[in-house]
Amino acid sequence: MQQTLHLGQTLSFDGNPFHDGFAAARHEADGAVLVEDGRIQAVGPAAALKAAHPEAARIDHGDHLILPGFIDAHAHYSQTAIIASWGKRLIDWLNTYTFPEEMRFADPAYATAVAETYLDLNLSNGITTAACYCTIHPESVDALMSAAERRGMAMVAGKVMMDRNAPEGLRDTAQSAYDDSKALIERWHGKGRLTYAITPRFAPTSTPSQLAAAGALFAEHPDCAMQTHLSEQHEEIAWVQELYPESRDYLDVYESHGLTGPGAVMGHTIHLSDREWDALKDSGSGIAHCPTSNTFIGSGLFDMKRAQSLGISTGLATDVGGGSSFSMLRTMATAYEVSQLRGTALHPAELVWLATAGSAEVLRLEHDIGRLAPGQMADMITLDLASTPVIAQRMGRASDIWEALFATIMLGDDRAIAKTYIAGAPA
Ligand code: GUN
Ligand code: ZN
Repeated sequence: MQQTLHLGQTLSFDGNPFHDGFAAARHEADGAVLVEDGRIQAVGPAAALKAAHPEAARIDHGDHLILPGFIDAHAHYSQTAIIASWGKRLIDWLNTYTFPEEMRFADPAYATAVAETYLDLNLSNGITTAACYCTIHPESVDALMSAAERRGMAMVAGKVMMDRNAPEGLRDTAQSAYDDSKALIERWHGKGRLTYAITPRFAPTSTPSQLAAAGALFAEHPDCAMQTHLSEQHEEIAWVQELYPESRDYLDVYESHGLTGPGAVMGHTIHLSDREWDALKDSGSGIAHCPTSNTFIGSGLFDMKRAQSLGISTGLATDVGGGSSFSMLRTMATAYEVSQLRGTALHPAELVWLATAGSAEVLRLEHDIGRLAPGQMADMITLDLASTPVIAQRMGRASDIWEALFATIMLGDDRAIAKTYIAGAPA
């Protein structure tokens, strides 16, 4: 089989820089990645890999930085067309913009068109995997999964379950959501590189019997992901307390219905009590941090320091279209700003780790994606570290890779993504 040697700067992580410091980072200024049959065979200094593999085809990326593809731990592909909708907080934003748009996904042709646009936007922003909420319509899952399968992508996605507090035409039932999700798991989970995510939208739009059905499904399919929203806005939290008066707190609603544990991905988790933080940690659930959404919808400031000090798996997410950008660079920049407002400056190594290996771990895909390392799939991007005039002039003062990378994180967008590869093939 043909081997390809990608030459450029390389950066990846052996461990979590929040815990292991910068010893976890592997940077080669003159590096190489050897790819064969869609997987990474070796990573190291260019001179050594060129000498060891003289027959390999070579692609010279110059001084561009080769990174693992970005992994978006939480997004709504069905909200692509309503990104950047003005002036609402969460509940009004859902009712005004989101639910009317999600109704349109009853039409499979519309769902397919948006799925293709969404994946194009992801790839041009260097996102090679995303965990997606679809809509209540099974056809919306078929549209995204088949488009992702054609592109060879490792997508994670599921049908939204919603049987109350949503308009007519956008509600299923506990039983139909269970039956439709089960059929979709059989159709898509493990096909190609796809993972099914059991997807009760959030506690307010499910009855207790629907959450119980979702919990039963998760117990029957423990290797599926489970994704939902937790503790995003104060009004939402008060509403959950009204709807579930017997629950100790918001997380308890999910705990008591079997919706926590390894593979469970909680979006947002901004306003947690001490009990919820500890219970989240004890459960082994993960967190998807959605910083551009949290500032755009006015939700609040996520406590990254606490999540990391508790050792809770945490990844980075766009939350398109509550999130205001498809760019993982913009998402990292906003994560930096949100943490600054809480008194912690995240290091560029921590930001890149969150967007790659961190998100892979939350989705339990770390054996396959998220790092440049032998055995990992060759889902990779190359970053131009001087993609615009303002970044290029700032690079003149950068004294090391971290300073250079930080300028692109704070100032870059899709113009910085020079190439995106899925399983070694240009996307
Ligand atoms: N909570 C329930 N549904 C949604 C959604 O679509 N976006 C966001 N940001 N929060 C939610
Ligand atoms: Zn969301």
